[in-house]
Amino acid sequence: MESAKLILDPAFEIGPVERRLFGSFVEHMGRSVYTGVYEPGHPEAGESGLRRDVIELAREMGVTVVRYPGGNFVSNYNWEDGVGPADERPTRLDLAWRQIETNAFGLGEFMSWAGELPAEPMMAVNLGTRGIREACDLIEYANHPRGTRWSDLRVEHGRREPYDLRLWCLGNEMDGPWQVGGKTAEEYGRLAAETAKAMRRVDPRVELVACGSSNSGMPTFASWEATVLGHCLEHVDYISLHAYYDPAAGDRASYLASAVEMDAHIDAVVATADHVAAKLGSRKRLRLSFDEWNVWSQSLFGGEASLEWAEAPRIIEEDYDVTAAVVVGSLLITLLNHADRVGIACQAQLANVIAPIRTEPGGPAWRQTIFHPFALTAAHARGRVLRVEVASPTFPTERFGEVAVLAAAATHDDDRGELTVFAANRSERPLPLEIDLRGLPGFTDARHVVVADEDAGARNSEETPNRVVPRALDGVVLGGDRLSAVLPPTSFNVVRLARGQAVRRGL
Ligand code: AHR
Repeated sequence: MESAKLILDPAFEIGPVERRLFGSFVEHMGRSVYTGVYEPGHPEAGESGLRRDVIELAREMGVTVVRYPGGNFVSNYNWEDGVGPADERPTRLDLAWRQIETNAFGLGEFMSWAGELPAEPMMAVNLGTRGIREACDLIEYANHPRGTRWSDLRVEHGRREPYDLRLWCLGNEMDGPWQVGGKTAEEYGRLAAETAKAMRRVDPRVELVACGSSNSGMPTFASWEATVLGHCLEHVDYISLHAYYDPAAGDRASYLASAVEMDAHIDAVVATADHVAAKLGSRKRLRLSFDEWNVWSQSLFGGEASLEWAEAPRIIEEDYDVTAAVVVGSLLITLLNHADRVGIACQAQLANVIAPIRTEPGGPAWRQTIFHPFALTAAHARGRVLRVEVASPTFPTERFGEVAVLAAAATHDDDRGELTVFAANRSERPLPLEIDLRGLPGFTDARHVVVADEDAGARNSEETPNRVVPRALDGVVLGGDRLSAVLPPTSFNVVRLARGQAVRRGL
């Protein structure tokens, strides 16, 4: 049986584990908001209408940041429609997803929900049908203490203290022909720079994310980033990346190797941002916000034109299997291995729409398979990300050629005396793994937890919500500066080492 090897050394590190890598996304789309996070009258919802069962699952997942309210939705959204007395809010047509939007849920409800988790809000402004004025009005409503038109309106709406929203997206996927109010790179770059300058005048403490390409397959990928950043590099803190990895398009091997594509995508955006900085004579090393990523059978979706006008319809409620959990785990590994430049990442989305959490109206909420690699990584990636040296057998893929069977990342928390290895086995055979712990002596306890199943197509459902759950595995051997374990076929693994009995405290 072929085996893989990892070398770890605390002298070689990538950067600190940024807690904002464990972000998620709630968009007014399908049943993400309505009957997802918000369902007045549900037995789990109190007076606020917020579903407690979903809050508890999001908390268990370890979600740290939540992007809101879109997505494509934001590009034709009037934020004022979603504040103030609920019975005075207008019902509107949402042009992004052909939905009837009641506006029963808006900024105040979202902020209460995010406060319950708690998670940091990441707010997007509409740069599709609106512009600088409305973005400034929103930030004045949210962050200005009081004594002005918009801040006083917030107080009138029952919120005395400012929300103090720090993280803001300057629009969404503005290069997409599907985007309401889409723009050329020149148009958007100028608008992003001017909006950023104005928003900072309202509140200088904001952190701003400019839109990068909608995905790395866009015909203008990289030239979009170069032009946009040519205008706004000095005015923003992040550039966004979006990517969905499609199980329904192409060969299974390439799908399993999706992290190779994410890796190249990140490298290309870093190179482009640094190229722009060099051209401008700037020393700025722009950070990346991978604020939409997930597995999505997008090639099976007919697009917004295929949708009928409806209120909170069931759209793209993807059922995830074990293979999807392994792909999601390997994508999280890639994000960790870019901790030097990727400062924010949001899995898209949180509830029902391509989501780790599923709900039924009036019924239960449950964890999809992809919930588990996210929750395990958010819980155990602590301290600093080490640069891992991987030696692995390979497998052939149509899109990427030969790819390593093993994807791995490691984090080291010196203060807590913990070392954690995250490893995906992308092969249908067991993979023996040996870890060389040079420079990391003294670990006395090791624990191996795995997300896998005899059937890589196994899923969780309302009827069998716990078919796929993390399980502890015996067989890990720790001796001196070596650890060995066997990674089951098509699996996501977490191997935790501690000094003393620390890792025995739970999965
Ligand atoms: O997450 C679903 C959609 O995918 C978002 O609205 C959009 O930004 C992306 O194209």
